[in-house]
Amino acid sequence: MTRVFSGVQPSGALHLGNYLGAFRQWAADQWEFDCFYCVVDLHGLTVEFDPADLRRRTLETAVGFLAAGVEPEQCTLFVQSHVHEHAELAWLIECTASFGELSRMTQFKEKSHGRESVKAGLFTYPALMAADILLYDADRVPVGDDQRQHLELTRDVALRFNHRYGETFVVPEAAVPRQAARVMDLQHPGSKMSKSAESPQGTIDLLDTPEQIAQKVRRAVTDTDGEVRYDPEHKPGLSNLLELMAAVTGRSIDDVAAAYDRYGPLKADLAEALVEALGPVRERYETYSSDPAEITALLDQGAEKAAGVASKTLARAKDAMGLLPRG
Ligand code: AMP
Ligand code: TRP
Repeated sequence: MTRVFSGVQPSGALHLGNYLGAFRQWAADQWEFDCFYCVVDLHGLTVEFDPADLRRRTLETAVGFLAAGVEPEQCTLFVQSHVHEHAELAWLIECTASFGELSRMTQFKEKSHGRESVKAGLFTYPALMAADILLYDADRVPVGDDQRQHLELTRDVALRFNHRYGETFVVPEAAVPRQAARVMDLQHPGSKMSKSAESPQGTIDLLDTPEQIAQKVRRAVTDTDGEVRYDPEHKPGLSNLLELMAAVTGRSIDDVAAAYDRYGPLKADLAEALVEALGPVRERYETYSSDPAEITALLDQGAEKAAGVASKTLARAKDAMGLLPRG
């Protein structure tokens, strides 16, 4: 069966963009593929962080997976630092990737630009990401556009390793999620919805109440020409609402646009559809959050399953590179 791996940073509280753009698709994939999903807390160490806060965000992100419908029985859900093979393979990858190719990573350039102190781990981050993927012999890696370059690097490094040291790694492919929406901020439709949004009114949190959802949709910025038409360039606010409506209902954007001739009813129906779609997510979130011992147990089982696969791949890689086996 096709193996899928994806990782998400422990950024904590999730919003509608995460859900429609990523988590919902990952939950659907578990019924078709052999999926490994990982909260990449080691990657969270590459920028400034507060330890207590990191721990809390890691747990929240794991709960986000479960709330989105990821079933621990159906796939492998775990925390990166629970499987020590990630850090260990990362070193072997750092000794396979070159300084030059890591220097070309645009995410590193962006995140380090203008900073006085940049952690070495931020520079080698893509090697750790490659290790995450290669440990599980993943065929498909669902990632957003911003991670494509890291995936190319992973492929290059896997090919180089196999060429130098013998067939060891599966060379993975990036998978563009099918039907994933790019959700824009409701107040500033020129930017992606994100948790760092200046306007909390522009971001729908997965834990928002039905009233909060309805209010945010009602106040969403549109335009004054009054015409319902999908035109992201000239009508970004309205186009975002159409896109959201299509994403939550599974209809096409054209269908949705044809069904309305005024903004008000579109907003009202969208609010209702979102409340309905997010209701079960919020419920699951609350159920799991109220039982931390259950989450700990689930993550423990996940780490156990993950380590079973990872330890074999790491052993293969160490052996291929000529590290002397223990007696
Ligand atoms: P982040 O928390 O930004 O690392 O994102 C976690 C996942 O959610 C990634 O796969 C992103 O591509 C996806 N994501 C984040 N924000 C949005 C958005 N506004 N629209 C669609 N997908 C998003
Ligand atoms: N770098 C990814 C991001 O910021 C997170 C990540 C880490 C990841 N390891 C991964 C994604 C492996 C896919 C596969 O979104």
